[in-house]
Amino acid sequence: METAGFSFELALSGAARAGVLNTPHAAVETPCFMPVGSQATVKTLTPDELKDLGYNLILANNYHLYLRPGTQVVGSYGGIHKFMGWNGALLTDSGGYQVFSLSPLRKMSDDGVTFRSHIDGSEHFFSPELAIKYQEVFGADIIMALDECPPVEASREVIEAAVERTQAWALRCKSARTRTDQSLFPIVQGGLHADLRRRSAEGLIEADFPGYAIGGLAIGESKEQTAEITAATTEILPIDKPRYLMGVGSPEDIVRGVAAGIDMFDSALPTRVARNGALFTRYGRIDIANARYEGDKGPIDNECGCYACQNFSAGYVHHLFRAKELLAYRLATLHNLYFMRRLMTDIRQSILDERYDDFARSFLSDYKPTDE
Ligand code: GUN
Ligand code: ZN
Repeated sequence: METAGFSFELALSGAARAGVLNTPHAAVETPCFMPVGSQATVKTLTPDELKDLGYNLILANNYHLYLRPGTQVVGSYGGIHKFMGWNGALLTDSGGYQVFSLSPLRKMSDDGVTFRSHIDGSEHFFSPELAIKYQEVFGADIIMALDECPPVEASREVIEAAVERTQAWALRCKSARTRTDQSLFPIVQGGLHADLRRRSAEGLIEADFPGYAIGGLAIGESKEQTAEITAATTEILPIDKPRYLMGVGSPEDIVRGVAAGIDMFDSALPTRVARNGALFTRYGRIDIANARYEGDKGPIDNECGCYACQNFSAGYVHHLFRAKELLAYRLATLHNLYFMRRLMTDIRQSILDERYDDFARSFLSDYKPTDE
C-alpha cells in the first residue's frame, strides 16, 4: 500500500546522509532528533515552544496513551494531534518495547503479548492487529510495527525467536492497516548478533516498507557495540528509505549514529536529564545544581542562544533547582532541546558541505560524555 503524503528525498548520501522526510503534517529535515512526548506532552513545554525551537516531528506512545487516557478518549478528539494541540508531524511507537520496560508482568505468544499496566496492575493484550488499530485511532504520521525486544543479555535462542516473531508481526501489522495516510515502519531486532541483525533486516526489506527502524539497542550494551551493530544493519538497509535508530539520543551517540547512516533518532534522555539539572554544552554536560554555580552571573552556556541562556544567569537557574521551583525544569528542558536542535542543524549542514567526518571528529574530541 502506498502512503499518501509520504516521501523521502535524499539531498546528499555518503555514509552520513542529509534528506527531507515529507509527511502529511510536516517536511522534516534529516538527520533529525525527535523529542519524546509519551503521554502526548513533551514534559514542561507547549507545542508552540517546541515549534519555536524548530521541531516539527515528535514522538508519542501507543502503550502510555492506550492505558491512559485510553484509545477511546483520544479518539473522541480525533486523534493525538487534536488532543494535544500539535499540528506538526507525529510518530507513535507501537508499545512493544514499553511492554518490556514498564509492565511488571508479561506473557508473550505468537498471538501477541498479555501484560499488566504499570499504573494500576490491570491486565491487557496487544496483538499486531490491535497495535495497528490503536495507532490508527491515534493518527500519527508514522506508526511502528509491534515488535519483541528482549533484554540485550538474553540468550541467542531467545533473540533468534524474537527476530522470527518480530518478522511475522511486521507482516501482520502491514496487512492490518486500513488508513492510507500513515507510514508503517517495522523494527529490526537481533541483539548484538550481526548475523541475526542481517536476517531480521533482510526479512523486513523483502516485505517492502517505507522506512526501517533499528530497535533493541542502547539498552545496556557498550557505546562501541551500539555503533558497531548499527553500522552492520544500515549496511543492508536500502539507501533510499529512512532509517530510524530507536531510543538513541545522547549527543555523542547521535553523532556516531549519523556516521553509520541513521536519519532519525528519539530519546527521552535530553529532556529527562534536564529535569535532573544536567545541561548540555559543547564540552559535555554540566550539573547546574552543583555548588560552583551559586551566585554565577554568566549564562548557563555562553555559546547558547536559547531562551534560558539569553535571559537568565546560571546562578539563577541553580537557585531554581535548589528550590525545586517548576521554572527550573522548563528552562532546563528548553536549553537541552535547543542544544539538540542546534546539533542536528550543524550535523546536517556539515553533511551538505561534505565535511561530516571533520565535524564528528571535532565534536567527539570536545564533548566529554557522562555515563547514563
Ligand atoms: N524504543 C527503543 N528501543 C525500542 C525497540 O526495540 N522497540 C520499540 N518498539 N521501541 C523502542
Ligand atoms: Zn541555553
